[in-house]
Amino acid sequence: MILMKYSLPLRAIHWLMALMMVGLITVGWYMAGLDRSPFKFELYGWHKSFGFLALLLLVARLLIRRRSPIPSSKGILAGWEIGLSHATHWSLYLLMLLVPLSGYIMSSIGRELTVFGLTLPNLVPQSDALQQTAHSLHGPMAYLMLALMLLHLAGALKHRLFDDRPQADVLPRML
Ligand code: HEM
Ligand code: HEM
Repeated sequence: MILMKYSLPLRAIHWLMALMMVGLITVGWYMAGLDRSPFKFELYGWHKSFGFLALLLLVARLLIRRRSPIPSSKGILAGWEIGLSHATHWSLYLLMLLVPLSGYIMSSIGRELTVFGLTLPNLVPQSDALQQTAHSLHGPMAYLMLALMLLHLAGALKHRLFDDRPQADVLPRML
């Protein structure tokens, strides 16, 4: 059997972004629960900067993906497994877009958004309702992404450790 892997750039960006997502959710959750202090707002600054970087990385990732061969699971996994894994992957992609985008919107309406010392343009109209909507969605969408990440991890581990079809172990494609 030919083992077809994801291309090196896609593998590298998968693990870099996986690390960033875990870090951003952890820091986001921690900083939001702190009392007001200079430290809290320093963390907000880092969270916004790395969150924006994640948005740029996602765009780069999708552009690279369009030009890369993607390993097929046909004949390796059952139809329902392929359906579930694709639904999970594309939901993760969607949330990797919507979470930082809602962060950008809520943090740039009515104030200046700076990331790594650079001031970013405000791309959306001045609107309290839009800001509140973005704010009320940002956290819940991030925690939904965490839940999907756990499902994704469970899928990878199931195929590696508890599957009697050796070819169903898809982890080496991403390593
Ligand atoms: C993939 C990228 C991102 C992830 C996974 C993420 C995740 C999170 C999480 C889990 C929280 C805590 C929510 C809560 O418990 O209330 C949070 C809060 C926050 N995030 Fe993000 N975030 C990301 C990107 C961004 C970006 C790009 C910005 C702004 C430019 C941003 C601005 C904020 C702010 C200001 C808060 C605090 C909200 C509050 O105090 O109520 N985030 N984020
Ligand atoms: C320890 C954690 C992780 C493991 C073991 C893991 C493993 C894998 C594996 C084996 C694949 C390839 C699946 C296949 O060939 O069908 C994959 C793909 C993918 N993973 Fe992960 N992953 C992890 C964390 C994450 C995180 C945190 C995210 C994003 C939030 C993520 C997003 C994705 C996406 C979007 C794909 C689809 C790739 C594509 O076809 O473009 N992964 N992962």
